[in-house]
Amino acid sequence: MASVVILTGAGVSAESGLGTFRDVDGLWTKYDLNDVATPEGFARDPALVHDFYNARRANCRGAAPNAAHRALARLQREHPGRVTLVTQNVDDLHERGGSDEVWHMHGALNGALCAACGHRWDAPEQMAPSDPCPGCGAPATRPDVVWFGEMPYLMDEIYARLEAADLFVSIGTSGNVYPAAGFVQVAAGAGAQTLELNLEPSEGASLFDAARHGPATEIVPQWVAEVLA
Ligand code: APR
Repeated sequence: MASVVILTGAGVSAESGLGTFRDVDGLWTKYDLNDVATPEGFARDPALVHDFYNARRANCRGAAPNAAHRALARLQREHPGRVTLVTQNVDDLHERGGSDEVWHMHGALNGALCAACGHRWDAPEQMAPSDPCPGCGAPATRPDVVWFGEMPYLMDEIYARLEAADLFVSIGTSGNVYPAAGFVQVAAGAGAQTLELNLEPSEGASLFDAARHGPATEIVPQWVAEVLA
């Protein structure tokens, strides 16, 4: 039975009211990613970085999962073959939309990490640089998200699934950021069919066998219904 690997990006959460990064008025048009999404930026001004993620955590708590999140959870429940859901997103809308297993390759807003000892715990609603690590007590807490220049999580597991996939589907991502932007080539190289579901053609559109363009809340439920028919 067909094994499917799905990669999602900010576009799958756009209609839930969470901003994307590179669209008009996206997050990177309001903040310099070097200040809020790099280890250097965190070292320079940890309070600014915590404020940025505290705001995104509050934004996320006020948002609701949408029909695309729910459709992907339905696919995971009902598809007889293996479905691997990899997301670049740090929000928890896939989980709140009913997905039990979500691979957060860029980490998660709801996670906290100690930069000193590596201890991980559930992030409080608001984090501050002076918060002591519950593990070692050091005031070295950070959001457990992957910043530019850092290694994404679960890469070995993701590549193993891509090598074994019959179908790779990329949803709501601009194809600008590696390694995620290269997954389509790994899957295609291993013989998988590749499909892009996005509002408009992404940077990597030409690398896909097929594409459907439109809002995720329309094209993702439609595609899932066809796969499960
Ligand atoms: N439905 C479907 N796709 C949409 C929608 C929508 N309603 N709205 C926007 N999109 C698409 C845009 O066309 C764009 O291709 O979602 C994509 C969003 O692209 P980006 O803003 O670049 O977000 P993403 O691809 O997830 O960024 C990847 O970059 O900044 C880092 O770590 C961050 O995980 C992020 C990574």
